[in-house]
Amino acid sequence: MREPRSRRSFLGAMSSAGAAVGLVSRRAAGSDDALPAILGGKPVRDRPFPHWPVIGENDEKAWNDVLRKGQWCRLGGDYANQFEAAWANTLGAKHCLAVANGTSALITSLAALDVGAGDEVIVPPYTFVATVNAVLMHHALPIFVDTDPETFQIDASKIEASITERTRCIIPVHLGGAAADLDAIAAVAAKHKIPVLEDACQAHLAEWRGRKVSTLGELGCFSFQGSKNLNSGEGGAIITGSDQLFEQCQSFQNNGRGTRTAGFSYVRNGANLRMTEFQAALLLQQMTRLDEQSRRREQNAAYLTELLKEIPGITPARMYDGCTRNAYHLYMFRYDGRQSGGLPRARFLEALHAEGIPASPGYQPLNKEPFIKNTLQSRGFRAIFGQVRVSDYLEKTHCPANDQLCEVAVWLTQTMLLGPRSDMDQIAEAVRKVQKNAARLAKT
Ligand SMILES: Cc1ncc(COP(=O)(O)O)c(C=O)c1O
Repeated sequence: MREPRSRRSFLGAMSSAGAAVGLVSRRAAGSDDALPAILGGKPVRDRPFPHWPVIGENDEKAWNDVLRKGQWCRLGGDYANQFEAAWANTLGAKHCLAVANGTSALITSLAALDVGAGDEVIVPPYTFVATVNAVLMHHALPIFVDTDPETFQIDASKIEASITERTRCIIPVHLGGAAADLDAIAAVAAKHKIPVLEDACQAHLAEWRGRKVSTLGELGCFSFQGSKNLNSGEGGAIITGSDQLFEQCQSFQNNGRGTRTAGFSYVRNGANLRMTEFQAALLLQQMTRLDEQSRRREQNAAYLTELLKEIPGITPARMYDGCTRNAYHLYMFRYDGRQSGGLPRARFLEALHAEGIPASPGYQPLNKEPFIKNTLQSRGFRAIFGQVRVSDYLEKTHCPANDQLCEVAVWLTQTMLLGPRSDMDQIAEAVRKVQKNAARLAKT
């Protein structure tokens, strides 16, 4: 295993936070009423969290094997085939198709579902932009359904009201690695005969009632981008139980060829969105650690929840009963500044950083991003939807619960859950310390 990333920049950043407030008397860390590090006190933590990715000798060997064989493209190679078989087996899925990245997986899946110009696709506003971009790439309208603030997932009870005769697909995102409410989503999808495309890009090994997410909808998509729990720098996969959808996805991501091979014969339009042999070889090795790492995240997260829920103003994200396994790509909680002496979230986060806990505020409301309006005002969209429908859409797109959530959310990343249990004690200790000193911090 490699050495952790250089400590210098991490410690440097922390000491500058302390130095900024000048010399203040220092008290020992470890007690909650100690002077906050942002005011010059001793930080709760002075070590970085575990390095990501974890790199072993097996990764190096696999990478070199691809290099030396010289078969770097998957056409004619075997690593991508092997990875597809292994990932399908892990998930209990019939088909897995490896692709270049998660965005490609979503674009390809929507193409296979024949989503196109003039269609509507239901999406959550609390997600990474790629979920929405994939819809826009097909000249379809993303219809935002508000978020359940307790779980951070799409509010499934609000989906039906957003369905029209143009709705072609529902995309639940298993945000942070917990599952969206797949019972409710499956019920509304079945009632209206609309396919479900699970965005499982953050949810490797997560489960809904004992089944792996990505296998419950018509299609499921994964990302293996650098931050993800299963990582090859970039990478993606499509999961489906349908032979027909599999064939269509396979063709689309291989420039519309009828088979997986090279050649100059095409059956549909498509693009080159193939995974390389390098990515696949690395994934096969990274997969050997995934279950153990996931268990550790789960155990640490469960312990952290017990600690955090006792702290006033801190509410960890709730999981739906059906979520039998959470991948914990993110550990998410809500921060209520009113219970913390009016300390704004931004200042709370600054103070946590100074304590050595790099928490972040997470997403902004995606439905309000100017790029959506700009895209819909483009020539293509105006030609398809007309100015009146575009204006009507923009006027009606409101997700108030999500707006509120975006103001109070706090994220910890998956790597922070990979260390020993004592790391969780330190996270909770830092939160408690900042919370106890909130009134004082709010004035500085
Ligand atoms: C929810 C979600 N969907 C889609 C993607 C896109 O995946 P990629 O970055 O591999 O294209 C991501 C990646 O961050 C994601 O988090």
